[in-house]
Amino acid sequence: MEEWINSKGESILRDYGIKSGQNILDFGCGSGVYSIIASKIVGDKGKIYALDYDENPLEELSDKIKNQNISNIEIIKTSKEISVPLNSNSIDVVLMYDVYHLLDKDERVNLLNEIYRILKINYVILSYFAIHIGSYGIQLNKVQILIKKTGFELIEQFKRPMFHWSWIEEAIVLNYRKVEKK
Ligand SMILES: C[S@@+](CC[C@H](N)C(=O)[O-])C[C@H]1O[C@@H](n2cnc3c(N)ncnc32)[C@H](O)[C@@H]1O
Repeated sequence: MEEWINSKGESILRDYGIKSGQNILDFGCGSGVYSIIASKIVGDKGKIYALDYDENPLEELSDKIKNQNISNIEIIKTSKEISVPLNSNSIDVVLMYDVYHLLDKDERVNLLNEIYRILKINYVILSYFAIHIGSYGIQLNKVQILIKKTGFELIEQFKRPMFHWSWIEEAIVLNYRKVEKK
């Protein structure tokens, strides 16, 4: 697992399209496994907005940021209500990793609309780690229909080992780009 977090995870996120200089929202970041990997890729010219409502994992992330001298992660603590305090058309990539299933129906719609608002147009990504399929009311075809209806177009689908809780498992990641609404 250490090896995945310290090296393999980085090459996988690069494959998903994360690049130097990008601004990234990690929605439901938890203790920041993905935020920290992404922060190494985006470097000094990029920024990671690590958003969660739960204080405990955010405190853990805050300690990691201090201990590892990371300067490009900004923690955003919300009230759990779906509202993303970032400017419209300002973000290159949103990571929606292992969080969508925890939201109710209205929250899923609100979150996708907020993500649509903050992402820049065209080749910017909503990267969805499709997990818990068959539970939490998650049917992949229905999730895909809702994402498409919000204004996104599927660009790539991956099957790679991903960090989930405290283990690594083969998982599906779907990347979408924001398209202009007519
Ligand atoms: C299973 S953890 C995943 C953490 C991280 N994304 C990862 O893949 O390792 C889900 C996280 O989503 C957060 N979360 C759930 N609902 C949320 C909401 N409405 N707003 C912000 N964060 C939320 C939880 O607090 C939790 O930290």
